[in-house]
Amino acid sequence: MRAAGPDDSVAWLQLRQALWPEGSEAEHREEMDRFFAGEFPRDPWAVFLAEAEDGCVVGLAELSLRPYAEGCRTSPVAYLEGWFVLPEARRNGVGRALVAAAERWGRSQGCAEFASDTSVDNQVSAAAHRSLGFADLGTVRCFRKEL
Ligand SMILES: CC(C)(COP(=O)(O)OP(=O)(O)OC[C@H]1O[C@@H](n2cnc3c(N)ncnc32)[C@H](O)[C@@H]1OP(=O)(O)O)[C@@H](O)C(=O)NCCC(=O)NCCS
Repeated sequence: MRAAGPDDSVAWLQLRQALWPEGSEAEHREEMDRFFAGEFPRDPWAVFLAEAEDGCVVGLAELSLRPYAEGCRTSPVAYLEGWFVLPEARRNGVGRALVAAAERWGRSQGCAEFASDTSVDNQVSAAAHRSLGFADLGTVRCFRKEL
């Protein structure tokens, strides 16, 4: 596990596109450039990549600090914004190691709680979260409208 650096742009972009295919390449690049430039508002705040023995990047964890997270009692809360492992590298402990690195980062930021979310139909993600010690807080339905 290591923090992402500017040399990781290609691998990081590929993982982002696999996790969030609805985002355009330009949108991903813009967020990545802002991250490397250290611009505020920072989102993500920290990015960890998992590298295999052959040097290939096989997973990522993107993190932020949120002022509030559902079910949490403290602020800010370390938040798992993105979590992805290449299909061929799954069920090998990579996701677990990424979350462990994320938790260390959260503690280093002074956080006492770590939160995350996933889509209602993502059973694998839910199982993985529970297995890594997250309490399942149930389902929240979100709404928006233009103002
Ligand atoms: C969720 C994800 C990151 C897990 O990565 P991973 O490297 O496979 O995770 P690990 O191998 O460290 O597994 C950790 C634990 O999660 C659970 N788990 C992982 N995959 C599982 C599956 N398919 N079914 C049931 N439990 C699973 C297991 O308990 C596992 O521990 P074990 O293998 O010792 O039993 C990966 O499946 C993924 O990238 N999914 C697609 C993207 C996604 O849904 N991300 C989360 C959205 S927030």
